[in-house]
Amino acid sequence: MKPTIYAHRGASSYAPENTMAAFQLADQMQAEGIETDVQLTKDQIPVLIHDEHVKRTTNSIGYIKDFTYRELCQLDAGNWFSPKFTGTPIPTLEEFLTWIKPKPLYLNIELKNNKVEYNHMEAIVYEYLSTHQLMNRTTISTFNANSVVRLAAYKETAEIAFLTSRRYRHPVHVAKELGANALHLKYKRVTPKIVAAANKHKMKLRLYTINRPAHLIRSIQYGVDGIFTDVPDQALYYRNLLYN
Ligand code: G3P
Ligand code: MG
Repeated sequence: MKPTIYAHRGASSYAPENTMAAFQLADQMQAEGIETDVQLTKDQIPVLIHDEHVKRTTNSIGYIKDFTYRELCQLDAGNWFSPKFTGTPIPTLEEFLTWIKPKPLYLNIELKNNKVEYNHMEAIVYEYLSTHQLMNRTTISTFNANSVVRLAAYKETAEIAFLTSRRYRHPVHVAKELGANALHLKYKRVTPKIVAAANKHKMKLRLYTINRPAHLIRSIQYGVDGIFTDVPDQALYYRNLLYN
């Protein structure tokens, strides 16, 4: 299996993570998919930012859940990365989906509901995907096992992935039991046995987050379905070398 290359938080080694600048760059680099993280504002607007707190990647402090969208969109999510990106805002899921719709890119929407319990997050995200008719090329993933169960119960057509960094004996079985049809595993946890189990159970297997050349080459050679990387240009280079 030739792994699909997903730009992790966009081309996040080269532009501020989870911003339109990072997504646009990933597209220019010909990444095949984009991974992004969703949190909910106080007024339940899905926004793309990795941490529950704005401190690391903006010029402010506080939890996303305590900002209204109007307040949050004033923040600068680019300057922490480089002054070149000063004034870059936190994007909304709506903005991202509108942008990606005409592009032939896969989507991985990661629900960041493993630390803050966002009410109705699954339903809200499904509604956006349905409105934009993007279900058939989207994977929704989460570290929250209860959320995987809730997502699977909707019987929607988006693929559901259980995300984990844990050392399970049979992670494919765990994902299957939860109702997921994909497993997103920390790359260090993968073994030939896990790859074989995923193939046997028709469970999509993708690995995160792989940036170093040696790790990229090893992960690509495993023949998994996809990999998440901050350096999509490099991952594509090695993937194309190994699969042409
Ligand atoms: O979705 C793969 C990866 O993004 C999960 O970890 O912390 O980078 O969101 P994290
Ligand atoms: Mg993520």
